[in-house]
Amino acid sequence: MSEIASEGNETRIEISGVGKRYGNLQVFKDVNLTFNEREIVTIVGPSGCGKTTLLRCIDGLLPVSEGTIAIDGQTITEPREGVSMVFQHFGLFPWKTVRHNVGYGLKLAGAPKTEIDEKVPYYTKLVGLEGFEDSYPYQLSGGMQQRCGLARALAMEPSVLLMDEPFAAVDAQTREILQFELLNIWSMRPMTMIFVTHSIEEAVLMGDRVVVLRGRPSSVFEIIDVNLPAPRDRSTLSHPRFSELREHVWGTLMDEARAAEFELN
Ligand SMILES: Nc1ncnc2c1ncn2[C@@H]1O[C@H](COP(=O)(O)OP(=O)(O)O)[C@@H](O)[C@H]1O
Ligand SMILES: [Mg+2]
Repeated sequence: MSEIASEGNETRIEISGVGKRYGNLQVFKDVNLTFNEREIVTIVGPSGCGKTTLLRCIDGLLPVSEGTIAIDGQTITEPREGVSMVFQHFGLFPWKTVRHNVGYGLKLAGAPKTEIDEKVPYYTKLVGLEGFEDSYPYQLSGGMQQRCGLARALAMEPSVLLMDEPFAAVDAQTREILQFELLNIWSMRPMTMIFVTHSIEEAVLMGDRVVVLRGRPSSVFEIIDVNLPAPRDRSTLSHPRFSELREHVWGTLMDEARAAEFELN
């Protein structure tokens, strides 16, 4: 672990005994997790295990059915300042330009125009969209649309960034570029990042810790300390520990997929 990560790295988010039901469907139960001040925790699990639901609960958009989620000691009951989310399907307004999409959260939060005029160009440039300020989402590739979604979240200068499979809808090469760019942006201003994915490789590549969700209802099956050297880059993908962890998580999730197949039969 790097010096920065271990120094004063206090718990920010505490999930205690959390369960979520939609009517009769118990999606997850008895989830206990903590997230620290400056770390990237990836959450991996099969489709439908409740990853999006869990992020929405942390964001305060959905109430939990059991247990509590607290940020900085305060139980979450509604969305709060300092927490931003990046959505799987970009969540951009098609009728707004890049500039206005990036500035949307700031405007909604009542930021003064001077602040918006300063932050929007800064974050637009940071994500590599300089020159596209007046473009509409339909004029952008999927990767660029997600850069825009990321800039909108970063412009809020969140201390907690929630990412829901942010790169699932972009092609493989773009995805890899965005993964490393995001790690680079994070290292300039480390925060608590919770990154949900169904990709085992992405979970191991991006995470300081990987949380594996499993079961129906799902629950935390394992928490893995990744301990891969920083900075993570393309060479990480051929690191022996990377392969070891990927195979380990793969084995865990395949057991479950096989069990599910037998149940269906
Ligand atoms: N608003 C909802 N009402 C009822 N069921 C839902 C709702 N949202 C999600 N679900 C169900 O809850 C389960 C978990 O969904 P979700 O959190 O989207 O999983 P994941 O993100 O891991 O794919 C799924 O079975 C899904 O169909
Ligand atoms: Mg989801």
